[in-house]
Amino acid sequence: MISSTIQPRPERSLYMGCFAAPAIEQIRVAFIGMGRRAQHLSTLLAPMEGVSIVGICDIKPERTEEALSILHELAEPSATCYGKDELDYQRMLAELKPDAVFITVGWNHHATVACACMEAGAHAFVEVPLATSIKDLWQIVDSSEKHQRHCMMMENANYGRHELLFLNMVRLGLIGEPVHAEGAYIHDLRFTLTDDNRTESEWRTRHYLHRNGNLYPTHGLGSLSQYMNLGRGCDSFSHLVSMSSSSRGFGNYSSEHFPADHEWNSQPFACGDINTSIIQTCMGRSIMLQWDECSMRPYTRHNFIQGTRGILAGYPTRVISELLGAKEHDDWTQGEALEAIYKQYDHPLWKRLGARGEELAGKRARDYIMLSRIVHCLRRGEPLDQNVYEGAYWSSVAELSERSVAAAGEPASFPDFTRGDWRKTPGIIIHD
Ligand SMILES: NC(=O)c1ccc[n+]([C@@H]2O[C@H](COP(=O)([O-])OP(=O)(O)OC[C@H]3O[C@@H](n4cnc5c(N)ncnc54)[C@H](O)[C@@H]3O)[C@@H](O)[C@H]2O)c1
Repeated sequence: MISSTIQPRPERSLYMGCFAAPAIEQIRVAFIGMGRRAQHLSTLLAPMEGVSIVGICDIKPERTEEALSILHELAEPSATCYGKDELDYQRMLAELKPDAVFITVGWNHHATVACACMEAGAHAFVEVPLATSIKDLWQIVDSSEKHQRHCMMMENANYGRHELLFLNMVRLGLIGEPVHAEGAYIHDLRFTLTDDNRTESEWRTRHYLHRNGNLYPTHGLGSLSQYMNLGRGCDSFSHLVSMSSSSRGFGNYSSEHFPADHEWNSQPFACGDINTSIIQTCMGRSIMLQWDECSMRPYTRHNFIQGTRGILAGYPTRVISELLGAKEHDDWTQGEALEAIYKQYDHPLWKRLGARGEELAGKRARDYIMLSRIVHCLRRGEPLDQNVYEGAYWSSVAELSERSVAAAGEPASFPDFTRGDWRKTPGIIIHD
């Protein structure tokens, strides 16, 4: 078994499992990294009551200019622009002293920037994944505990209609006791390599060239972890085993679309087309998790949770439960028949905010709901829906799967980012 050692929590650092910060009536927000993701999130956030976007930072001036003009249209004239060099965000933190910072730079910068924000006194809201290495995840956990600032990895998939519906149904006991789950991020993103509007491929592709494992695990895993209350009270992450397929998709695409001397053709892509990991929890439950961004396959996050009395499954959504009257093992409720399920069991948060979210963000209504929850919790001084440890556990699958793949599928142990304290954190209930 490949395992990691854990240092004791330093003095004056606090366990952050149920952390609630003092309420902030008017939240002064800054953004670091004004790329595609930040443009979308800032547009949803700016009009919300109790939010002022005071600063935006990007090393590309055209990005801050574009964002600023959109914010002006949304009656948000007060944001100051930063970004004269890679470290200018530090000047922004010192000068503006924001309450909360949205960290929407590329993966390699997440840990350094998040720690700098917390050290400067701001709560950190970090895009997925929280960080790419276990060493960096520990730095983030330690910084959050030391400075007593929230550090939430913004797993927006957890706020999708079906994820909220399943969470609600699991909590109501409608599938009995959850014993197994399946999740994925299967999304053919090869086109981003050649799409000039998608600059994330400039940095993201480099990871796929050099690393082999599940490099983007959190969209599939976050909701399953919440259904099963992992890292909260009764159960947590124990270990995983992982295997990758051979690597073809990105290599074939690169040789068809880029010259032979281009970086993407400089060596074979390390990442297999599809990675499959199996996680065992401390209580002996199991999760199958897959990742594939380079195959001709329909989008799926699987979103599958199996209990002792029934199953909730995604893509397409289906429900079967003895407790809801199923008599045979293929007695699924699906298609139009799901309307009765939505009517009765849609999460109250979706019932309240779903229509407005769809109006503002279409399929990305989950982002509107996530941001609304963040603002609500900060303004009322309540714990957030995702604590720093959950972001760390979910993101650590990347390095753990890499280690297991490199060791022919040998089990790799999850670090206990809570240092044994996860038992103190109650199960997650997302309020409306
Ligand atoms: N949750 C989701 O659904 C979702 C979707 C897409 C992307 N993401 C995540 O969002 C993050 C950003 O992705 P993106 O697609 O917006 O990438 P992007 O490349 O479009 O944007 C990143 C921006 O960061 C800027 N930047 C880089 N270093 C900087 C520094 N030192 N200071 C200031 N700015 C800096 C770049 O100039 C760029 O504009 C990534 O972590 C990605 O994984 C999440």
